[in-house]
Amino acid sequence: MSHDRDDLPDRHAPELPAPRGPLSAGVLALLRGEVPPPGPEGADAADPYGDDLQLALYCCYELHYRGFAGVDPAMEWDPGLLTVRRAMERRFLAALRRDVPVHDDLRSAVKELLTEPAEGTSVTWFLRDEGELRHLREYAALRSVYHLKEADPHAWVLPRLWGRAKAAMVSVEFDEFGGGRAERVHAKLFADLMADLGLDTSYGRYLGPSPAPALAVVNLMSLLGLHRALRGALVGHFAAVEITSSPGSRRLAEAMRRTGAGPAAEFFYDEHVEADAVHEQVVRHEVIGGLLEEEPYLEGDVVFGMDATVFLEDRLADHVMACWRANGTALRAPLPDTVAAAA
Ligand SMILES: [Fe+2]
Ligand SMILES: [Fe+2]
Repeated sequence: MSHDRDDLPDRHAPELPAPRGPLSAGVLALLRGEVPPPGPEGADAADPYGDDLQLALYCCYELHYRGFAGVDPAMEWDPGLLTVRRAMERRFLAALRRDVPVHDDLRSAVKELLTEPAEGTSVTWFLRDEGELRHLREYAALRSVYHLKEADPHAWVLPRLWGRAKAAMVSVEFDEFGGGRAERVHAKLFADLMADLGLDTSYGRYLGPSPAPALAVVNLMSLLGLHRALRGALVGHFAAVEITSSPGSRRLAEAMRRTGAGPAAEFFYDEHVEADAVHEQVVRHEVIGGLLEEEPYLEGDVVFGMDATVFLEDRLADHVMACWRANGTALRAPLPDTVAAAA
């Protein structure tokens, strides 16, 4: 059943972004109710990591989160849209299966995740040592496409887990969702960080300026979260995030302190230094341990989820550092200086 969208408050739903090619133009037109769905053959011709496919896929997935202003909520299960989404997912997954160097076993994959990158080789090192406020603002803007829905895609795995894995996953998600306190929900803490940095905290505000590598990172989470068949990879993805978060968050907290970004900006990352050191242990030993005790044949999928996450994060880091080293913007357009200037 559809509603008259004009009568509903779209306070939490973002505006539709501008298309970035024929595939995203077709999907966006369908969301606006204008045309029949684009054929799946459009997905087969698109760059699996490129702006057109990644934006189109992101828009399909967003219907499962908050949707878009003016778009009928019933589009979430529109068969035509699901058909083109499936074609895009197949193209994206096939590229990852082809391109991601996958470890032979879980032990070696985890060992590599636990090894810190060499100093100076990652975005967080750069931000800690040399980052200016403009870099921190850009970093927060492009991370906001995930952090304003932090932990949401992982909640989809809960009905697909049992026993130890389920109990442990819920305990980590409970922390991510604020432990019962709305003001401590991690997505809210990130909005507070954005406010300190003079960014617009509206959900989805920076979807348009976000480059394809940033969208691909979030699309991987949505893809793995929405498909029960990929539950092992979702758990692997979550483990990769939690294992690498604590040291990275420490560097980002230092960057926020050094640049005087503000107390909420520091707090978001300070909170993750503490919380994710615990989450890492719980995810490794209880979530993965519990899942593989129940379903040992999923080990390869867990490893694939870890390695695909690292692969896409590395692509994003390469993009960001190349832009910043060339003194340019890592976004598709530079940010205005402040929210007031944007208004
Ligand atoms: Fe978090
Ligand atoms: Fe966490």
